[in-house]
Parts: sequence; structure tokens; C-alpha cells
Amino acid sequence: MPISPVLERQTTYPFVRLGEAARRVEARGVTVIDFGTGDPREATDPLIREALVAGLRDRMGYPAAAGLPELRDAVAGWVARRFGAHLDAATEIVPTLGSKEAIFSFAQVVVDLERGKDVVAFTEPGYPVYERGALFAHARPLALPLHEENGFLPDLEAIDDETWSRLAVFWVNYPNNPTGATATLAFYERLAELARAHGFVVASDEAYTELWFEEPPASALQLGDLANVAVFNTLSKRSSMTGYRSGFVAGDAALVGALKAFRPTVGTAPQEFVQRASVVAWGDEAHVERTRALYARKRGIFLDLFERKGLRVTGSEATMYLWLAVPQGETSEGFAERLLDHGVLVTPGSYLGEAGEGYFRLALVPSEEECARAVEILDRVL
Ligand SMILES: Cc1ncc(COP(=O)(O)O)c(C=O)c1O
Repeated sequence: MPISPVLERQTTYPFVRLGEAARRVEARGVTVIDFGTGDPREATDPLIREALVAGLRDRMGYPAAAGLPELRDAVAGWVARRFGAHLDAATEIVPTLGSKEAIFSFAQVVVDLERGKDVVAFTEPGYPVYERGALFAHARPLALPLHEENGFLPDLEAIDDETWSRLAVFWVNYPNNPTGATATLAFYERLAELARAHGFVVASDEAYTELWFEEPPASALQLGDLANVAVFNTLSKRSSMTGYRSGFVAGDAALVGALKAFRPTVGTAPQEFVQRASVVAWGDEAHVERTRALYARKRGIFLDLFERKGLRVTGSEATMYLWLAVPQGETSEGFAERLLDHGVLVTPGSYLGEAGEGYFRLALVPSEEECARAVEILDRVL
């Protein structure tokens, strides 16, 4: 039976391996506190849940790929309030089923093998979906390492002219998963300039823009000119709505138009009741402020602990993640195994890309009580 060789070549999603290791430890009777995956465990705000239920109708037809005008208006309103950017809700925004599916399929929308626009660049360590999307689109993936000495930004000078000319899409993700680093507007300006000069698309995955601690991070939506730019955002992290599947792509009207042409075939418009709940979610900041305050409290107790223990926190300016250097002489995986033995599950940086070796990631998703318990354990173990 034929199976796509691209699929057959995929290695196990690292978190599956992590889950298996956790089950082995649990089988020994150890309770595992899971700081692995970034799936928020907070309750979704009641106002949002009520809007979802109220959005159910006797008959729900196929949702249109363009989305409800009310949702596009709600997104445009949020973008204007948060980033001071004024988008045309009719032509510059398209809703997505969370951002993962849109990230995965984006290479299929922009890669042009016939014209030699066949390279998809992304950064590592990072979210694995950019690369997987590139491979299924038969594009050439180009992994660019993120190093601490560059503030976890890709080194644009290291890319040669041949590569620039073949580039179809350049993925960036700030605030960054896993490093928690942020990018300045100047970085987006430079990248957008390069995109227009060399004819590629800047795809900015901004899933974590709302989980910040000191000051709100920049967005590529703040670029005055959105030519060659597509921004992906989502309610998953901002509003603890991973299970709802709701996000959007906004930017260059030609790209949004291409997505509207592509997406009806794939069938990835969010259900209308989810869209109605999303209108409420984008329209409310009070629940987001509470969420940020909660992550800040959890982050605070870990920062205290790591300072006491002399573990070096780096990046970690925003997102729900802390990114730390493992103690000298230990590998990422060895260190994570050592903590897991005591019931604290963290992600080895190496699972997220080669340049992640020497680091580990802690997702601040367990409850405050579990975080306090984990701090007690780590106080003894480290
Ligand atoms: C960097 C990054 N982008 C995108 C996503 C996808 O989020 P969703 O599909 O839930 O919107 C995630 C989820 O963990 C992520 O870490």
C-alpha cells in the first residue's frame, strides 16, 4: 500500500517520547508534574464559553473560509487596540482553525518549485511544524540556529545570495518558543525589506505576543507596509483556548487572498459557534490580564529558585516558557531525565532542535499549587 515517503521519514514527535518516559516513571509510583507541553490548563473564561453555547443553531451549515464578518471585525479591532495597526477586515484577515494547520499548509500556498522558489527557512530550536509543512510541500527546509549571543535571533548575515533568491518563506516566531526571547520592530523591518528585495514572504508566528511580563512585545503588524508579510496569531495561549481551535492570518492582501482561495479545498474554516466565542475572546482584555498575572506569579517562584540554585535563566522575556542553561557537565536529555526521576517533567532543549542542546524548557502550565510542589522538589534535587 502506498504511504507518503515524507510521512514515513518523520521521526516521532519529541513530546510522544517525553510522554512515554513519564509513564515509565509513573509506573514506579512517582507523581509527575508536567512542565513539558505548552497546553494551558487554565479554565477558559465563562463569557467565552457562554458565547460558544449561544452560538449553536438548529442547523449549522458549512462555515465559509472567509469567516464571519463579525469575527474579522473583532480581530481588526483587537489589532488596532493592541498594535495601533489598521487592517482592512475584508481583505487583510482570514480566520484559521487555530494556527497550527495554517502554519503547516502555508508552504503549499507560497512555494513555487517551477520558478525555483523552493526554500523554507525557519529557526531552531523551535516549533516543528514549519519544517514539516515545508517537507510535505516538497520544499527544501533551511534550519537557522538561534544562539544566545545573538539574543536568539537568526543571523541574517550568514545567509548567502543564492539562498535569498530561492527563499519562498522565512518563518520567525517571537516571542519565541522555546527561548522566550522577543524581537524588536527593527528586526521585522529589516526582514520585510529583505523579503521585498528578494521576493519571499515573512511569515511571523506570533502565538505568544500576549504572554509578556515587563512590556508588550512588538508585532510584524506594526510595520507600516505589510507587503510580503503574513502574521499568524491564535487564541490558544492568549485566552487558554487550545481546544477551540481559533486563530487568524493577517497581512498582505495578496497573501490573504491566496489563503482564501486555498482554504475552501482544505476545509479548515472554524465552526461558526467557535467563531462567535472568538468574537468575545478578542473583544475582552480582562481575562488576558488575569492570565498574564497568573503566569507572572508562577514565573516569579521559579526565578527565585533558579537564582538561589545558580541556574542561568536566559531569553525568557515573554511566553509561558522559561529557558535555562543546564548545569555544566550535563546534557539536556540527561538533566531532564534526572528531574523526571523525581517527578518533574521538563523538555530537553535538544528535543526542539540541535541548537537547543545545553538548555531545557519549562512550560509554566501546572497549577500554582503544583508549581510550589515542584519548587520544593527542585530545591532538594538541584
Ligand atoms: C510557536 C507556536 N506556534 C503555533 C502554535 C500553535 O498553536 P495553535 O494551533 O493552538 O493556535 C504553537 C503551539 O504550541 C506554538 O508553540
